[in-house]
Amino acid sequence: MSNSTPSLQRSDLEALWMPFTPNRQFKAKPRLLARASGMHYWTPDGRQILDGVAGLWCVNAGHGRHEITEAVANQLETMDYAPPFQMGHPPAFALANELVKIAPAGLDHVFFTNSGSEAVDTALKIALAWHRARGDATRTRLIGRERGYHGVGFGGISVGGISANRKAWSTALLPGVDHLQHTHDLAKNAFSRGAPAHGAHLADELERLVALHDASTIAAVIVEPIAGSTGVLIPPRGYLQRLREICDRHGILLIFDEVITGFGRTGAPFAAQEFGVTPDLLTVAKGMTNGCVPMGGVLVSKAVYDTFMQGPDGIELFHGYTYSAHPVACAAGLATLDIYRREGLLTRARTLASKWEDAAHALKGLPHVIDVRNYGLILGLELEPVAGKSGARAFEVFTQCFERGLLVRQTADILALSPPLTVTPAQIDEMFGTLSDVLRGK
Ligand SMILES: Cc1ncc(COP(=O)(O)O)c(C=O)c1O
Repeated sequence: MSNSTPSLQRSDLEALWMPFTPNRQFKAKPRLLARASGMHYWTPDGRQILDGVAGLWCVNAGHGRHEITEAVANQLETMDYAPPFQMGHPPAFALANELVKIAPAGLDHVFFTNSGSEAVDTALKIALAWHRARGDATRTRLIGRERGYHGVGFGGISVGGISANRKAWSTALLPGVDHLQHTHDLAKNAFSRGAPAHGAHLADELERLVALHDASTIAAVIVEPIAGSTGVLIPPRGYLQRLREICDRHGILLIFDEVITGFGRTGAPFAAQEFGVTPDLLTVAKGMTNGCVPMGGVLVSKAVYDTFMQGPDGIELFHGYTYSAHPVACAAGLATLDIYRREGLLTRARTLASKWEDAAHALKGLPHVIDVRNYGLILGLELEPVAGKSGARAFEVFTQCFERGLLVRQTADILALSPPLTVTPAQIDEMFGTLSDVLRGK
């Protein structure tokens, strides 16, 4: 197979409005990917790029897995589409059964969506509907967290804590949402290895919000166990446990958004298992199909599901998507879970974690590095911002890494690495070697 693909002209780039991208800057100096296999991408002119971010935290089994290609092709031949309302098809039930086998104990039902954003909005709707179904209809308040990212639906941006994501739509956000403080504390926790020691008490903010609003108005709290999109914020030791205890004390549902932490990223199938805290609802997407076909879902506890099933006859949850449990996505999901199981990928991050951690912390002391943080196969590398130019320094590192054959992810002045879980120790060295060279200006 030829490594080179015809490149695009400037005029070819115009029609596409690119998401979460400065379009004018990108189109003036595009970065294109044309092909992928295993741990690598290739640019249209044939340059090999080591994938340090599993695409976008989703290609956990590496690129171009034939088992998934075959399953998808077979499914398209067998049945391309089936309506999900009032009708079912075997792969949908099979995937739900496989998912609950690896899910945290007690989360034994699945509602399918097509993305992480839809999974979040679905989870929020289930939480509100659950309280109503139990006769607790005053519980309408949702609590998110500063620096949380929960996708781009109106529900997700309302509970999310990224101001740029919220300000343009400020008047359209859900009413009655409040936020916990974020847990990022460089003064006390910089250069922590794994979960930082300081900050479990920040969960007590929830008690303050309960005192302020009264528990009888609060439906759910949603957090990412590890916040990814705002720059890899790892929960302080004991923080998630404390959040769980406070939710239990006040009858509040706890939702973990595991769109990036799900499917092996932390060293266990889900971060809930890794941190020993089981939420009531857990959102998934990304790694669910190895990024091959868009799909998301909400894992739901028996207690929540059963409440709906004990309600009046008829549709228990007035919610769903044309492509919920799309047969092609289900086929991709089943093939993906099979690879994860056969290759032990859902726990492989645990075996590589100390190698990863040592390689990561060797970056300490390099120019402008103000924090290195890690968990499982995740790195957060925070740089001193250039005065008055937030993000400029990390963007420069991101582009230089790309020029030297490494894909990293940049948010403000934080760089993240989250490679496919198939990464080898030599590739870990290569990634950190490139990052180190770029930081040193070598
Ligand atoms: C924690 C979290 N939730 C939700 C989403 C949204 O997922 P999607 O982009 O598939 O809508 C993301 C995406 O990165 C995410 O990281």
